[in-house]
Order: sequence, then structure tokens, then C-alpha cells
Amino acid sequence: MSGNAAENDGRNPPAGGRIPRHLAIILDGNGRWARRRGLPRLMGHRAGLRKLEEMVHLVKREGIRYFSVYAFSTENWNRPKMEVEGLMSLFRYYIRRKVEAIRAEGARIRFCGRKDKLPPDLLEQMRWAEERTKDETILDFILCINYGGRAEIMDAVNTLIQERREGPVTEEDLRRHFYLPDVPDPDLIVRTSGELRLSNFWLWESAYSEFYFTDIHWPDFDEAALKAALADYAGRERRYGGLKP
Ligand code: IPE
Ligand code: IPE
Ligand code: MG
Repeated sequence: MSGNAAENDGRNPPAGGRIPRHLAIILDGNGRWARRRGLPRLMGHRAGLRKLEEMVHLVKREGIRYFSVYAFSTENWNRPKMEVEGLMSLFRYYIRRKVEAIRAEGARIRFCGRKDKLPPDLLEQMRWAEERTKDETILDFILCINYGGRAEIMDAVNTLIQERREGPVTEEDLRRHFYLPDVPDPDLIVRTSGELRLSNFWLWESAYSEFYFTDIHWPDFDEAALKAALADYAGRERRYGGLKP
């Protein structure tokens, strides 16, 4: 399907009227982008990671405060070893090369996900990138690597058990133990490349998120595609179970 973009026929208010505080994107379609061009899948991942620097700039310009991207799921370990190792190398390369440019945008880099299984030198680089950008306040750029919504919930539950907390556990108790408890729930979740599913992204946090799907493969996602998603969001009515305002 051509996504909600098709429904955005210009009647919706332009983006900027109501901008999401937290925009989340499921970066999908790197493999299909590469296949179309007769390239190996890893070239698609490389193109996808390159795209992020431009997006950080555009997202910041839109006035968005939190920008999270789903780059590697807890299920992506099931891919062939060569692809997984290639992705880890690309993450290493990308972090090393792009931290200063992202910092120059006023963006704080944060990683979200399980720390197990990731190569120790990558983990070290992730810590360095977080430390290097920790004072930036214009945008939180959140890279979800080895992230799974179910893993996040289970990790929080197990921390509560270890704390031997008595009595009924509240939503706030659970949330306090999520990976980034200070980050507000995503207002808008975009998924590229035509798949209509969450694939274990922001499972708890997406309870009242708005969704936007587009057929565009992630490496082809551009300013016009971002603006179309934001314009669509600006026309949504969020009710949170209440009545029409
Ligand atoms: C998204 O692109 C990136 C990751 C999941 C790491 P894919 O690799 O899933 O691309 P497709 O879905 O095969 O086209
Ligand atoms: C979701 O994409 C995960 C990321 C984009 C990191 P997948 O390509 O892994 O999802 P499925 O397998 O199509 O659901
Ligand atoms: Mg995919």
C-alpha cells in the first residue's frame, strides 16, 4: 500500500501545527533497497545508516525533541552470521565517524536495548558516544540496537523481582526500570518499506502512539517523506480513550 501518505491530500494542517515530541522510526527495507540495485544486503545497511545523519538534521529542524530509530532487534540475531557481523562493523564505523557531526547538531546520542551479546569494543564505543554528547540538549537521538519490547518488559520485571518489592507493582514501578525511563512515549511511529507491524519495537510505550506506514525503503526516505509523515500526524485526533474534544 502506498501508506497513509496517500490519504494526506492537503486538507490536513501542515506539519509544525502539531509536531510529535517523540518520533520513532522502524528503519526497514535496507535489504530490499539493495536487492533492487543488484547489491549485497550489507550495502543496503550501509546506505541506511548513512541516511541517519541527514535525518537527525531534518528532525531537529522540525522541532522534534526525541528521535528514536530501530536499527537492530533482539530477533535480528537470527540472521546469517555474515550479515550480523557486517551490521556490527557498520555500527562501529558509523558511531566512530558520525559522533562529532551529530554533536554539532546539538544532539545527544543514547542507546537503547540489551547490552548482552554486543561485541565489547562496540559497547565501549557506544559508551564513548554517549559520554561525548551527554551535554547536548536540542535533540535526544536514540539508537535502538539489540532492542526488543518484550525483552525490555521482562528485564524490568526481573529487576523488580531482584529488588524483592512487596505489594502490587504499578505501571510507574515498571516504567522506572525501562531502558530510558525519562523518554516520553513515542507520539508517532513510522515504518518504512510497506510492512504493517511493530516487530517488537516500543511494545509498552506504543499503547497510544500514532502509526504511519510508507512503501519507501529506508535508504530512500527523504525530507519529502518525513514531511508527509509529519503532515499526516498533524491531522490526527488523539483521544486516549476519552471523548472527542
Ligand atoms: C532493516 O532492513 C534493517 C535491519 C533490520 C537491521 P532489513 O534488513 O530488514 O531490510 P529488508 O526488510 O530485508 O528489506
Ligand atoms: C524490524 O525489522 C527490526 C528493525 C528494523 C531493526 P525486521 O525486518 O527485522 O522485521 P520483520 O522480521 O520483517 O518483522
Ligand atoms: Mg526487514
